Amino acid sequence: MLYALTYIIGRGLLIPISLMDFMDTSGFYKLTPKERLGKIKEFCGLSEEECGVLSKSKIGLDLADKMIENVVGTLELPFGIATNFVINGKEYLIPMVIEESSVVAGASKAAKLSEGFVSEASESIMIGQILLIGVDFEKAKEKVEESKKEIIRKCNERKSSIIELGGGVKELEVKKLKTDKGQMVVLHFYIDVKDSMGANFVNTTLESIAPYLEDLIGGEIRMNILSNLSDRRMVKVKAVWKGEKIGKENVNNMLDAYEFAKHDPYRAATNNKGAMNGIDAVCIATGNDFRALEAGAHAYASKEASYTSMTRWEKKGEDLLGYLEMPLAVGIVGGYTNTNPITKIALKILGVKSAKELAEIIGAVGLANNFAAMYALVTEGIQKGHMRLHAKNVALNAGAKGEKIDKIAEQMIKEGKISELRAKEILHG
Ligand code: MEV
Repeated sequence: MLYALTYIIGRGLLIPISLMDFMDTSGFYKLTPKERLGKIKEFCGLSEEECGVLSKSKIGLDLADKMIENVVGTLELPFGIATNFVINGKEYLIPMVIEESSVVAGASKAAKLSEGFVSEASESIMIGQILLIGVDFEKAKEKVEESKKEIIRKCNERKSSIIELGGGVKELEVKKLKTDKGQMVVLHFYIDVKDSMGANFVNTTLESIAPYLEDLIGGEIRMNILSNLSDRRMVKVKAVWKGEKIGKENVNNMLDAYEFAKHDPYRAATNNKGAMNGIDAVCIATGNDFRALEAGAHAYASKEASYTSMTRWEKKGEDLLGYLEMPLAVGIVGGYTNTNPITKIALKILGVKSAKELAEIIGAVGLANNFAAMYALVTEGIQKGHMRLHAKNVALNAGAKGEKIDKIAEQMIKEGKISELRAKEILHG
């Protein structure tokens, strides 16, 4: 259906779906990336050049094909370095992978204006959830309490490098859940995943203990999965921006911006997006799961009655103090982090030795990007910074090459008219 709709829209024709050609996708997954691309090329009318662009890959199609299904190409994003970061007294160069202009510059500027960041991440404790149906809460609790040591021992008896390093299940809790289908029981496993992000480790642990638990407690286990609200794996960051450096008036104006984000969920979502710009960019550069971080961050920002700002700002004397506290589950070993050669380079640039250190850095970048956005918003607005790079992109799209890109972009900014049409006029006129 999706293919068919795309096909119609692509050609601007109104053909009833029933009359459409459908691509035969049977066995598509068994083909090589090149063979799949051949099929797509034919069906979607891609040119040789377009296929070349799609399949030209830095990490290689063979590796990509092992990561996800039905691969036909890879997509590159800019890999930039944010500078000026001093976190817990140590200097860092921060790799950021992102398509949006101003995020790397914003982080670097915020870090330069700051007095450095103090960041503290907790141990790598993830939460795994097991849902039990058809069992009385009190009975389940009693059974689990009686056999808790044995359950934990069984969870940790499998062969795993995380367990060898002292990780594994540390604690277990039984929770009552009121639902529209009646009372359910949820088991929470608190699992130390050491330097990994831990999703696979947690899910494997839960699935392997599930049959034993069903025998022990009775009822039916409906599902086993980690929680992305990893609030036992937190990072807390603090930084000071001196009033004399950023402007005493701006300190006050930024506090207005903070109150706005604190009390208005519409603004809070955008405010938090500004922090997540930096958090996701480092997360992607280091091969971590940014969807997991996003899910955890926003769930945590809703822990009070209403969704609010992920960051907190206050005035101390004439200075501005910023705080960020959020769940931050990232790893430096296992999974994609170690298979993608580019994410390995990102980790080398950072020079991190543990998942905890990486979380401390990512939290600091999030606070910096939130500062950068708020500062821009209460001073010159954000469009000015955005426009410089945007104008270059427009000039590039209009066909400008080499030095002409900068010249046309500058002229368009001066005129206050940034459009492809204007870029073409300057280029050809
Ligand atoms: C844009 O990517 C992020 C901002 O909207 C964040 C904010 O408004 O605080 C500028």
